[in-house]
Amino acid sequence: MRRYSRIRGTGSFLPPRRLTNAELAAELAQRGVETSDEWIVERTGIRARHFAAPEVTSSDLAFEACQRALEAAGVGAADIDLIIVATSTPDMVFPSTACILQHRLAQSSEAARGILGCPAFDVQAVCSGFVYALTVADAMIQSGAAQRALVVGAEVFSRILDFNDRTTCVLFGDGAGAVVLEASDTPGILASDLHADGRHVGILCVPGNVAGGQVLGDPLLKMDGQAVFKLAVGVLEKSAHAALAKAGRTEADIDWLIPHQANLRIMQSTARKLKLPLDKLVVTVDQHGNTSAASIPLALDVAVRSGKVRAGDTLMLEGVGGGFTWGAVLLDL
Ligand code: UT7
Repeated sequence: MRRYSRIRGTGSFLPPRRLTNAELAAELAQRGVETSDEWIVERTGIRARHFAAPEVTSSDLAFEACQRALEAAGVGAADIDLIIVATSTPDMVFPSTACILQHRLAQSSEAARGILGCPAFDVQAVCSGFVYALTVADAMIQSGAAQRALVVGAEVFSRILDFNDRTTCVLFGDGAGAVVLEASDTPGILASDLHADGRHVGILCVPGNVAGGQVLGDPLLKMDGQAVFKLAVGVLEKSAHAALAKAGRTEADIDWLIPHQANLRIMQSTARKLKLPLDKLVVTVDQHGNTSAASIPLALDVAVRSGKVRAGDTLMLEGVGGGFTWGAVLLDL
């Protein structure tokens, strides 16, 4: 019998500090940076984002999201035998945020100590990170290498924003989302389609690095927004169609499109190209901004907990971002 993987529970966490566009614009004005709620809403659909307190790390946000996902799945940390964290804002250069998360989870109760020893690693594919991580976890579960995985997207993008650059600092936020993915006789994940084109490294990057005891180069996010926009609208449609073809399904089978939450215009354009009515599009970018690898699992969890997305629904998840990377995962919930 073929072995599949299936999402058993979802969870998410947003740091409590929420800034509306007007509040962010007022803070930026004090630096002489001019923006407005009107511009941000019109160009992106974003109305608010959450920023973590200075001492809060990606693993802190991931820990909260995982606790919620474990509770929703009705399993304990000790039942997990694989941890994959998608992040571009890791706690440290190394070890991985996944290892730090494993330690935090193990400390949460005596019973949770059973999570120690399982493989734990990070996936770095920027805003496509969650679809990459889900695909890796699915492959490991299908092969029998794992039985039940925590797959997480967690980011503190506020740490790498240049608050003097209005073209980027109004777009991003912090947060985390997680799923418990487990082996199943029935799908589950139906198909994945992943891509990267390294020619476009420069259009979305944090070019700095750590060397010789110093940060070398610029450790803040740079983006050519228009170049990213143009690439994103093209590849998202292609990747969704590729995933549908691999699964032998059609656009009409999609109950919900849950794309990376970066820009409402990109998301709506993808929905239109897939001939989906806009009410089949899950939108959280208005409340969360762009949380990079966290955006898809955050949107999924919000949609599940609101009762919008239900067990048995067919979901198209789609990521796109720095690398340039992109991909889609089609699944039955
Ligand atoms: O997460 C990875 C994926 N990332 C994305 O998908 C992002 C893709 N790109 C985008 O979402 C859009 O390109 C942006 C939202 C970043 C920008 O929207 P746009 O419609 O492409 O605007 P633009 O860059 O063409 O800028 C239009 C104008 C410019 O002024 P001029 O040159 O027309 O006078 C900008 O200087 O808007 C100005 N502008 C702003 N004005 C007020 C840029 N940022 C701001 C701002 N507030 N925050």
